Amino acid sequence: MSHLTEVLHSTHKKTDFSCGKDILDNYFIHQASQDVKRKLSACFVKIDFETGLIQGYYTLANSSIPLHLVPAELQIKLPKSYVSIPATLLGRLAIDLRYQGKGIGKLLLMDALYRSYENSNHMGSFAVVVDPLDLEAENFYLRYGFIKLPDSGKMFLAMKTLKDLF
Ligand SMILES: CC(C)(COP(=O)(O)OP(=O)(O)OC[C@H]1O[C@@H](n2cnc3c(N)ncnc32)[C@H](O)[C@@H]1OP(=O)(O)O)[C@@H](O)C(=O)NCCC(=O)NCCS
Repeated sequence: MSHLTEVLHSTHKKTDFSCGKDILDNYFIHQASQDVKRKLSACFVKIDFETGLIQGYYTLANSSIPLHLVPAELQIKLPKSYVSIPATLLGRLAIDLRYQGKGIGKLLLMDALYRSYENSNHMGSFAVVVDPLDLEAENFYLRYGFIKLPDSGKMFLAMKTLKDLF
């Protein structure tokens, strides 16, 4: 399976990106490149090759989940001595307003999940975690099988599920 996205770099035209949520637009326009340089996160973009516009972006970073938040049926299979378990954080995912509602969000999510799954073959990661901005984002992730983690606002998709998917 090949990737639809490429790594964010300086020639990408970021400034006119707008997904309708200021926090995600400002992050992308003003901070994403710095975070990439500092190795705080990786950022991937999907380009419309006809116009050069950025259709959407997402970020990935290493993260962890406290063991006690992991759903009971999965927790049973994990060593009790672990206080937290490694995970991959899909920190942000946003589609430009001009391209929303055309299936690109779903494609980018699949691209992000596939990258996360590939990475888990090289560096331990038990699940993909998202931290949805609002109810709208939460509903989007619920569609794709993410489970809410108690008391954290975060959502979770086990890597085992992705293994079966891919
Ligand atoms: C949420 C977002 C990523 C969806 O991207 P999109 O390209 O518009 O979505 P798609 O066209 O790929 O939709 C895929 C499916 O999800 C559904 N969907 C889209 N947004 C949804 C939402 N907020 N809640 C529930 N379902 C949603 C679509 O109806 C579609 O369903 P279908 O496959 O049955 O037709 C996009 O609207 C966005 O960038 N929003 C602003 C930023 C944001 O909230 N990001 C969320 C993570 S922080």
